[in-house]
Amino acid sequence: MILLGVNIDHVATLRQARYRDEANTHGGFVEPDPAAMAWLAEDAGADGITMHVREDRRHVQVEDVQRYLERKKTRLNLEVSLSSEMVELALSLKPDSVCLVPENRMEVTTEGGLDVVGNLQRSREAVEAFTQQNIPTSMFIDPDPLQLEASAKIESPWVELHTGSFARAWPNPEMRDKEFSTLKVGMDVGLSLGLQVNAGHGINYENVTGAKKLNKVTEFNIGHSIICRSIEHGLSEAVSTMR
Ligand code: PXP
Repeated sequence: MILLGVNIDHVATLRQARYRDEANTHGGFVEPDPAAMAWLAEDAGADGITMHVREDRRHVQVEDVQRYLERKKTRLNLEVSLSSEMVELALSLKPDSVCLVPENRMEVTTEGGLDVVGNLQRSREAVEAFTQQNIPTSMFIDPDPLQLEASAKIESPWVELHTGSFARAWPNPEMRDKEFSTLKVGMDVGLSLGLQVNAGHGINYENVTGAKKLNKVTEFNIGHSIICRSIEHGLSEAVSTMR
């Protein structure tokens, strides 16, 4: 059975759209609350919670992470960039695992995987720092054997394969099969290198039927589609209660 990590960032994105200046407060008129939604997701069966604190703090705030941790029921997978400031921050927050992701301030969401090959030394130093604190590190990478080998070389125990190309290819059966094969090769190479292989990005209620055929993946991290469905399925109740 593949585990489900729920990425809660989009709840914070919605809050920031209105309450950016009050994002460090909670309760009262400031809604929605990412920590409360993370606890709800845990009650509903999430195996873990993922939060991404970005360098520009555009959605999840450090306070959200700290408050979630106070009543955490599962485990926190914290996504951060490779910058030394963010690595220090992640170490201080003591998550259960860290996922190192590329960050580009112009992007809407994480686009493309981390270039471990091109950032070998910095990646190695980050993994070493987390390993010393017994925090497993995951490298968010494209399913490229060179990136997998580099991740194993720096002794990152986990990787997360970027499923975005597969998700985008899903409507086209030929492209879908090609992208699935690439992911499958990535999974197999990762396992042969002794890595724990997770996967995520762009997985939704439809393409998960294909993605789950990556049956040796430990965990899928899914955010956008879960939050979209919660809006769709919650809207009737929200309108009728307000009415
Ligand atoms: N994994 C990583 C490393 C991410 O950065 C994200 C969010 O961008 C996800 C998984 C979840 O992607 P999505 O929101 O498309 O489900």
